[in-house]
Amino acid sequence: MLDISDLHSAYGRIEVLKGVSLHVAAGEVVALIGSNGSGKTTLMRALSGVQPITGGSIVFLGERIDRLPSHVRVRRGIVHSPEGRHVFAPLSVEDNLSLGSYLRRDGDVEKDRERVYAMFPVLQEKRHLLAGGLSGGQQQMLAIGRALMGKPKLLLLDEPSLGLSPRLVDQILGAIAAMKDAGVTILLVEQNASAALEISDRGYIIETGRIAFSDGASALLSDPRVKNAYLGLG
Ligand SMILES: Nc1ncnc2c1ncn2[C@@H]1O[C@H](COP(=O)(O)OP(=O)(O)O)[C@@H](O)[C@H]1O
Ligand SMILES: [Mg+2]
Repeated sequence: MLDISDLHSAYGRIEVLKGVSLHVAAGEVVALIGSNGSGKTTLMRALSGVQPITGGSIVFLGERIDRLPSHVRVRRGIVHSPEGRHVFAPLSVEDNLSLGSYLRRDGDVEKDRERVYAMFPVLQEKRHLLAGGLSGGQQQMLAIGRALMGKPKLLLLDEPSLGLSPRLVDQILGAIAAMKDAGVTILLVEQNASAALEISDRGYIIETGRIAFSDGASALLSDPRVKNAYLGLG
């Protein structure tokens, strides 16, 4: 579904992605694991088209998309839930969800809203309240729900559990597993490596802008390199 090859990206003269190659097959959950500053968010932003690239290619569903503007990538099915939640605080929960579906022309918007509410019942209870009044965990649910309203084929999730209590982390990860079961393909960025690998099929380890290694999720969970460097985190 997604094939990234030798991707480069820079901030000014500082190269941050130094030739990243990875792929995601339809139906997979793939974890991208790396320390702070290794380039995970930059890669997600490059995929959704808000971060320019300086080399390499991104192929999605058989076509190059790396020159396409962001909104066209969304229409093709790449939806990004960015790091740091970014809900629209002065709008209601329901209006935030509607913003997630504004590019859609199909008739399933109502049904998908009900699915989001079934996944996160607290959002339904609070649907008429302002997003800015929600707790951090509820805002994260809303950010994920809004991304789902875009009817993603490929969902890019950047640190969905950042700053949440263990109970909420479990709920968010459970929701991600449910999305996979519903057929959404997911590229998941997480500092909490063990939690991410528990629900992933495969994983890539990124170190200062390069993929250091990759493997099946269960192999990575017992890999000493991963254990030493990443499984203490989160
Ligand atoms: N807007 C920016 N301007 C300049 N440098 C940036 C900017 N955003 C990130 N960086 C740098 O790029 C590197 C990768 O950052 P980022 O992709 O956010 O990493 P991660 O998400 O893995 O923590 C870091 O060294 C960071 O300081
Ligand atoms: Mg980041």
